[in-house]
Formats: sequence, C-alpha cells, structure tokens
Amino acid sequence: MKIKCGTDIIEIDRIKESIENLGQKFLNKIFTDKEIQYCESKKEQKYQHYAARFAAKEAVFKAISESLPDKFALDWTDYEILNDKEGKPIVTLTGFDMSNIENIDLSISHCKQYAMATAVVIYK
Ligand SMILES: CC(C)(COP(=O)(O)OP(=O)(O)OC[C@H]1O[C@@H](n2cnc3c(N)ncnc32)[C@H](O)[C@@H]1OP(=O)(O)O)[C@@H](O)C(=O)NCCC(=O)NCCS
Repeated sequence: MKIKCGTDIIEIDRIKESIENLGQKFLNKIFTDKEIQYCESKKEQKYQHYAARFAAKEAVFKAISESLPDKFALDWTDYEILNDKEGKPIVTLTGFDMSNIENIDLSISHCKQYAMATAVVIYK
C-alpha cells in the first residue's frame, strides 16, 4: 500500500489582503460556491476558514502531485473542501482520475495568525 502526505501553512493576513484587494474575482478563482458559503457563515472569523481551505488545497496538491499527468491541469476549484456533520473536513476532487486512490484524509487547524492543513493519500 502506497501512502503520500502533503502539508501547508499560510499567514491568514495574506489571504485577507487578497480578498480585500481582488474581491469576488479572487474568491471565485480559488473557492467553490459551497466553500464561500461556509466561510462567509463564520462572519468576522471568515479569513481563518478561507486560509485553511487554501492551505488544504495546497496540502492535497502536494500529496497527489506525483500521480498527476499534468500538474497544472487542475484548477483551484477542482478541489472542494467541505465538512461532514461532525465538522471534519472532507476533500472532493473533480477533473482528476481518482480510480487509483482509496482515500484522502485531511486535517485542518487555524489560529489568529496562521492556518495549516495536512493531507494523507492512501493509494489502492
Ligand atoms: C473539533 C476540535 C478538535 C477543533 O479544534 P480547535 O482547536 O477548536 O480548532 P482548530 O483551528 O485546531 O481546527 C478547526 C478545524 O478542525 C476541523 N474539525 C472540526 N471538527 C472536526 C472533527 N470532528 N474531526 C476532525 N476535524 C474537525 C475543521 O476542519 C475546522 O476548521 P474549518 O471549520 O475551517 O473546516 C475541537 O473543537 C474539539 O472538539 N476538541 C475536543 C478535544 C477533546 O475532547 N479533547 C480531549 C481529549 S484529547
């Protein structure tokens, strides 16, 4: 069984500045409608959640990148990070052949300054 991991950390202020400077154009380039809905529901804490999803997409990319035929073919919105009913983050990937992947496990954390994520990919 092959297992690959990926991790990423980001300063929340970087994402906040991008959202403030580029607005909806930035949001729509990076996040899906459902992700935007989730983050916006967090009101003044929303930048932590946006940053966490940004880090999560980077972490998943690192974990799957070696199995991608073309690393740059996937868009940011091909990764969607939503939460199950317990709050655990779940990633779904569109535009990517998942047939050789058993599972992708994702863990997210964020505080005032930083957001981070770790992804573990288990291959069949
Ligand atoms: C769920 C919990 C772990 C989140 O921890 P936190 O320090 O409040 O927050 P963090 O910033 O580290 O993590 C937040 C992320 O945790 C993830 N998360 C939430 N619930 C989760 C769950 N049930 N399982 C896995 N991940 C979860 C989410 O991705 C969330 O970020 P998001 O809302 O942007 O998606 C915490 O609220 C909790 O329930 N702790 C209980 C711990 C406990 O009982 N300890 C005693 C024995 S160790």
